[in-house]
Amino acid sequence: MKDKVVIVTGGSSGMGKAMAKKFAAEGAFVTITGRNLENLEAAKQEIETFDGQVLCVQMDVRDPELVQQMVDKTKATFGKIDHLVNNAAGNFVAPAEKLSLNAWNSVINIVLNGTWYCTQAVGKEWIENGQKGSIINILATYAWTAGAGVIHSASAKAGVMAMTRTLAVEWGTQYGIRVNAIAPGPIENTGGMDKLVMSEKHYNAMMRSIPLRRLGRPDEIADLAYFLFSDSAAYINGDVITMDGGQWLNNQMFL
Ligand code: HXC
Repeated sequence: MKDKVVIVTGGSSGMGKAMAKKFAAEGAFVTITGRNLENLEAAKQEIETFDGQVLCVQMDVRDPELVQQMVDKTKATFGKIDHLVNNAAGNFVAPAEKLSLNAWNSVINIVLNGTWYCTQAVGKEWIENGQKGSIINILATYAWTAGAGVIHSASAKAGVMAMTRTLAVEWGTQYGIRVNAIAPGPIENTGGMDKLVMSEKHYNAMMRSIPLRRLGRPDEIADLAYFLFSDSAAYINGDVITMDGGQWLNNQMFL
């Protein structure tokens, strides 16, 4: 990771911050993005091991122009881009029949379209420069099981899974670019836990559904992301690695 340049969207908190921290600790330069500049600056203080190692870009992944500006700024600051983590996400629990059009579009635009805008902008940059970068998309296991109560997120994550596998073949074949995904289960201190665990009853049911009987930790996800970007994973392409204590093998319900 030394001197590599990594972009982490949604990098000011939770898993995004933990991944950025790990990459920086291993010597990478890191761009973190998010909608709140104060949160980004606080994360930068926590992540940086030397001045100038972390670039904060305030932006919303739903805006393709801001995404392009973020990619250009990263290139101008660090000279290149090696890796991208599409971690930014939006989610909330709501019955499918009650979702407003705007509610559906908000999550689809953040998760599916936002991932696409970042992926295409970075991919074009690599292809123009003949560079073999690699991408990690953050999924959820309900992309292939069912996410009752989060149909917008489940549909978007399923789309991102298709994007992961399609580009692993299309860009892998033509350009040697690797695209993989991580499907985390319930991870402590994340927006996902805040948004999806609505009551003590649900928390207890969720814990019973996890064979290992504990939540995952952001640093465990960060270690997996570090491995997937490393040369040790150079032959892993188009895969989805689940890190959920075995939870997806049980049923999960959010209603
Ligand atoms: C019903 C809701 C709602 C809710 C928002 N909406 N929350 N509808 N139930 N609980 C509706 C609003 O009423 C509005 O529709 C529309 O959604 C947009 O809401 P806004 O607040 O105006 O949008 P915005 O400010 O853009 O916020 C986007 C967001 C928000 C997705 C709604 O929650 C957000 O910013 N989230 C980012 C952080 C996050 O969610 N992290 C968790 C990711 S976890 P109307 O019609 O009223 O205008 C994850 C995977 C976890 O993704 C997997 C774990 C196993």
